[in-house]
Amino acid sequence: MSVQISPSILSADFARLAEEARAVEGADWLHVDVMDNHFVPNLTLGLPVVESLRKATDTPLDCHLMIENADRWAPAYVEAGASSVTFHAEAAAAPVRVAREIRAKGARASMALRPATAIEPYEDLLPELDMLLIMTIEPGFGGQAFLDIMLPKIRRTRALIDKHGLDLWLQVDGGVSSETIERCAEAGADNFVAGTAVYGAEDPAAAVRALREQAAAVHRH
Ligand code: DX5
Ligand code: ZN
Repeated sequence: MSVQISPSILSADFARLAEEARAVEGADWLHVDVMDNHFVPNLTLGLPVVESLRKATDTPLDCHLMIENADRWAPAYVEAGASSVTFHAEAAAAPVRVAREIRAKGARASMALRPATAIEPYEDLLPELDMLLIMTIEPGFGGQAFLDIMLPKIRRTRALIDKHGLDLWLQVDGGVSSETIERCAEAGADNFVAGTAVYGAEDPAAAVRALREQAAAVHRH
């Protein structure tokens, strides 16, 4: 299991996105939070900003869609330049079709679960996905406290991935920091989103390296 870090630009300065994207070069991904003020009570950015970001950095874009009607919008984010598109299980009418459309357009397909959504009903869908995102906060805002109560779900998801022998990344998003990343890694996560912990640091690139090293050390043991 190799560790990947995906800094969330939600915690960056939106007036200087190109610079902020370059400040974390060396990260595996750039996490882009798309919010529509319906699925979550916050509004961020959409397709035109993703298109511009694609031109501003070589780091692959990891688009996290916190929007309703994922079925309609997810494929367009691949066309806008995302290398990975995450839709929410709660916002997709036909998750298998959405995942297949994302893959057919050439990106990695990923599905996210809000804290109150169980993984078990989705066990048979896992082969359709390249990544599963377990939210460790209620989605909508950066800077919230990590929900420890999600650790059992991370463990159960890792067990399902291993049981089926899948090459599926397990991402965690929300409150991931030097304080909490080891618990996530220990539970079986291998892809870590971090907003405040990266962009709130004096040196964002160094924060990415430190987080990756912390998680990798857990996986080595
Ligand atoms: C919130 C977003 C997260 C957010 C995480 O709904 O999905 O990606 O940026 O921010 P931190 O790391 O500060 O919790
Ligand atoms: Zn996110």
